Amino acid sequence: MTIIIVLALYALAINLLLWWVGYKSPQAVAKGSSTRRPERILIIGATGGTGRQLVEQALNRGYQVTALVRNPSKLCVEHPQLTVISGDVLDYESVAAAVLGQDAVLSALGHKRFFYPTRILSDGTRNILKAMEAGGVRRFVCETALGTGDTAWRMGLLYTLIVIPLVLPFYFYDKTRQEHLIAKSNLDWVIVRPGALTNGVKRGTCRHGFNIGGYIKTVRISRADVADFMLDQLESDTCLGTAPGLSW
Ligand SMILES: NC(=O)c1ccc[n+]([C@@H]2O[C@H](COP(=O)([O-])OP(=O)(O)OC[C@H]3O[C@@H](n4cnc5c(N)ncnc54)[C@H](OP(=O)(O)O)[C@@H]3O)[C@@H](O)[C@H]2O)c1
Repeated sequence: MTIIIVLALYALAINLLLWWVGYKSPQAVAKGSSTRRPERILIIGATGGTGRQLVEQALNRGYQVTALVRNPSKLCVEHPQLTVISGDVLDYESVAAAVLGQDAVLSALGHKRFFYPTRILSDGTRNILKAMEAGGVRRFVCETALGTGDTAWRMGLLYTLIVIPLVLPFYFYDKTRQEHLIAKSNLDWVIVRPGALTNGVKRGTCRHGFNIGGYIKTVRISRADVADFMLDQLESDTCLGTAPGLSW
């Protein structure tokens, strides 16, 4: 019994801390922009689950796609409109080279080094933002997660009591830093916070906004639908300067 109370208090403290330091999104469009349809887009994290969906769907939508990847052999896609650049988000020079000449950047950056403090998401995103500002590239769409900032507690009880405090505290703290960096930038950005990700097919419909998620049940969405929503953000100003949640 004591151990359960200690764990519950620990979980409460972690979630409170993440909420306290987390980014609180305005609930209305913050900045204006010119919604010119981009032609050339850069995808970061293209070898990951969401990233592959972004590449495939972006090519289907007719974009000229560049993928910045650590290991090109993992991408397994060949297409005349696809350019693959080897690089690492932690290496500014490779990020700057990939950003050069793009109209927009999408990031589905993630990793599995959960059990010790890392800054991969925030340091990588700092490099992306710096390269975009230097290169005059304005639009940035970045995938983070429901459960960060003002969506703390909204991943459901399992995540709130167990997964986030025991497995992902460092990772979510880094996501918090990542979101603050994006929000502080002068770019035209959208932070996309999906619920738990599945590899299911694209349904083409999803719920998005500031009341997504629940305190008891975990909401889900496929990586395919996340990619679809992220690509929509290239051509719409509706969510600009905000961090909507996303679920089925
Ligand atoms: N899993 C969930 O239920 C869930 C829920 C909500 C949000 N999210 C978030 O959604 C995002 C995408 O998740 P996912 O599962 O679709 O992706 P993922 O499979 O974890 O892929 C992450 C991508 O980031 C790349 N990457 C990692 N470190 C890099 C570096 N230093 N330089 C360049 N690229 C690097 C990986 O490249 P390599 O292939 O070379 O490793 C991979 O392409 C993540 O931020 C995740 O936390 C996940």
